[in-house]
Amino acid sequence: MNRATTSRALIGLVALLATAACSGSLPWTADMVETPARHADEGLLMPPEGSLSTTGEVKQSRFRAAMSLRNPLPGDTATIESGARLFEIYCQPCHGAAGQGDGAVASYFTLRPPADLTGTKVRAQTDGYIYATIRDGGGSMPPLGGSLSETERWAVVTYLRSLQQ
Ligand code: HEC
Repeated sequence: MNRATTSRALIGLVALLATAACSGSLPWTADMVETPARHADEGLLMPPEGSLSTTGEVKQSRFRAAMSLRNPLPGDTATIESGARLFEIYCQPCHGAAGQGDGAVASYFTLRPPADLTGTKVRAQTDGYIYATIRDGGGSMPPLGGSLSETERWAVVTYLRSLQQ
């Protein structure tokens, strides 16, 4: 490479850098700006199609859950007792101590009151449906999945079955 070629190459490079600087940034300095991150008010960034949960729980509608989920816990006394404790905290205020839909705040639900959990309708529901109702709520019932872990939800289902006996 002779001198003239080298200096022309240098001038070319300087010109390129100057153009990039004037236009705001070099192509590689924008990497951190152009991320899939979202602003807080833009809503949740959903996982890509086909992603699998690392906690092993696949989100399903209550109707799908009703068909495919099985209660993995044994129906022993320890499980029932832990379910009873959780029921008292998370369900009783609306559904009442015996689950009959007459909890302390039940009267505030004027359109669709808390269900009688010992009635024929809920008795006929599968464990999976009740589990998913606890997790995601349904109708005028709020979701409680953020407060109860998977095991805790199944413990409540187990207790509920004992209440229905
Ligand atoms: C803030 C009040 C509230 C709490 C807390 C609550 N529920 Fe409910 N639940 C409701 C209401 C209201 C309904 C009736 C929903 C409707 O029909 O729109 C309902 C309905 C249900 C149903 C019937 C669902 C159906 O589709 O028929 C089940 C089962 C149920 N609740 C279980 C539970 C369990 C178990 C807990 C505790 C882990 C719980 N709920 C906590 C208010 C509550």
